[in-house]
Amino acid sequence: MALQLSPQLRQRFEQLKKRYPVRRSALVPMLLYAQDELGYVSPDLIAYLAEELHLRRVQVDETAAYYSMLRRQPAGKHHLQVCTNVACMLRGGYAVLEQVRQRCGVPPKTPTADGVFSYEEVECLGACTGAPAMQVNYDYYENLDARQAGELMNQLRAGKKPAPVPYASGTQLGEPHPAEVRVLTRRFGLPDSTSLDTYLKHDGYQALDKALKQMTPEQIIQEVKRSNLRGRGGAGFPAGMKWSFVPKDSPKPKYIIANADESEPGTCKDRPLMELDPHQLIEGMIIAGRAVNAHQGFIYIRGEYRYVLEILERAITEAYERGYLGKNILGSGFDFDLVAHSGAGAYECGEESALMESLEGKRGYPRIRPPFPAVVGLYGCPTVINNVETLSSVPAIILKGGEWYAGLGPPKNGGTRLFCVSGHVNKPGIYELPMGFPLRRMIEEVAGGMRNGKKCKAVIPGGSSTPVLTAAQLDTPMDFDSVAKAGSMLGSGGVMVMDEDTCMVDVARRIMHFYAHESCGWCIPCREGTTWLRKMLERFHAGGGRREDIAQISELAKNMLGKTFCPLGDAAAMPTISIVEKFRDEFEEHLRAGDCPYARAAAGVGR
Ligand code: FES
Repeated sequence: MALQLSPQLRQRFEQLKKRYPVRRSALVPMLLYAQDELGYVSPDLIAYLAEELHLRRVQVDETAAYYSMLRRQPAGKHHLQVCTNVACMLRGGYAVLEQVRQRCGVPPKTPTADGVFSYEEVECLGACTGAPAMQVNYDYYENLDARQAGELMNQLRAGKKPAPVPYASGTQLGEPHPAEVRVLTRRFGLPDSTSLDTYLKHDGYQALDKALKQMTPEQIIQEVKRSNLRGRGGAGFPAGMKWSFVPKDSPKPKYIIANADESEPGTCKDRPLMELDPHQLIEGMIIAGRAVNAHQGFIYIRGEYRYVLEILERAITEAYERGYLGKNILGSGFDFDLVAHSGAGAYECGEESALMESLEGKRGYPRIRPPFPAVVGLYGCPTVINNVETLSSVPAIILKGGEWYAGLGPPKNGGTRLFCVSGHVNKPGIYELPMGFPLRRMIEEVAGGMRNGKKCKAVIPGGSSTPVLTAAQLDTPMDFDSVAKAGSMLGSGGVMVMDEDTCMVDVARRIMHFYAHESCGWCIPCREGTTWLRKMLERFHAGGGRREDIAQISELAKNMLGKTFCPLGDAAAMPTISIVEKFRDEFEEHLRAGDCPYARAAAGVGR
């Protein structure tokens, strides 16, 4: 039977096919939108898209197979996706999953007999400060417990749709905490904060006006260099320097990409930046375009953030209508086009070279470097890729000056940072604090202290790839250099706090479960290493560990370091090595007990 597509979907396909310099780039969004309508990616759909995009079926097939959001079987009417990654696990994510599993009574990804539900355990949804979180189709439900998850299912079954959260839980809209310095978040909480009119009333597009009319591209780059703005995605590379690597004399088109594939467990700060102040990001991207003489930008946003994508698309349309995007912006003669592009579920696509492959409509495999994206990037052309928070910082820097911004933080660590504080604190939240803010104050004052009066045992300071800090390291200032000196990384700003009752073997197990799931499989040390480590840590945590495993876990992880094309291998290895080093006694305890002493204590059986 021929594929039946609605006129709306056909029209969307036509728009998608036209908006990229290379047609194949439309493939992943087309697959996703088609799945929304048809329920899954069928062989007929693959054949149809191959024809539409002048590809071979196998090219469409292999691309579709890479992305976790693309299904080969129909799901239930309400597809329940429960996160059990670290921040959610710490606050009861597994209990929510168990509730959902029992009520569905079918294997994961299988519709219930009446077709109402299907479910699956998923990786970080970017809702860590609202943990435990669950997505129902594209809607976010946060701060759930098992009972509430059951109640939500009752309502859905009764044909009602409880309101999803309107923005990331833990976003600070009201009076800031006295320690907060609101630069990027200063428009959060304003009525209609996503609209262009609100943006214009509150300094919006003034920096762009200045950059286009009073500054040369070189001066823009110098100002950003002066600000000491370092990449907020994780690596902390100086943004101005990255921009300066783009060759000025290249005859090829140049591109700006905002990396909005926020998937690092513990991190959920790009989501509010886009859902509450999308024009700030758009303005930052146009200024970046002007600085490197790029005329086309892309926002690569993770597929789960569908409602955020819609907010961005509305903001982009508004910006075009009012002359802030498109030809001859503000009468300056500078042109800039912008496309918001949806991923379809792959942590690896947060890595910049994999992201570009994905944006080109392929599997998100990393590229070998050099050459670096600034020279050979998207479609083989010079490309600047910056994180959303990095680009959102640019308008304030241009408006108020690089020196002012640099002065907000310690030397070489300019500005403020959005820290996502999750886990065992009283007030999980996304707080904008000056760089260098002490970790202890972040936990004890800003995030309301430890929950239930417990003691802090450990902190993952910058997303799950970063080595853990112990309670003895809480006086670490939270800037790139100080956290590095303490043996970890500031990473993506995902601060996950664990109390004295947390089993660190279980944390290591859950972290490795994530990396084994997300390894793209291209590099053998990563593909095999993460799988072996996951199996060993699962066995160890369940009580089947052997004494020699402790050293072997550490060895195996160390053997992955520096042996892969992209940083995923290191990201999996570093937290594991640090947990074995710093919490070896807990591994010993598991050996002695023959099971998990923490799980036993939680069940009231004592340790
Ligand atoms: Fe569950 Fe981030 S949403 S860990």
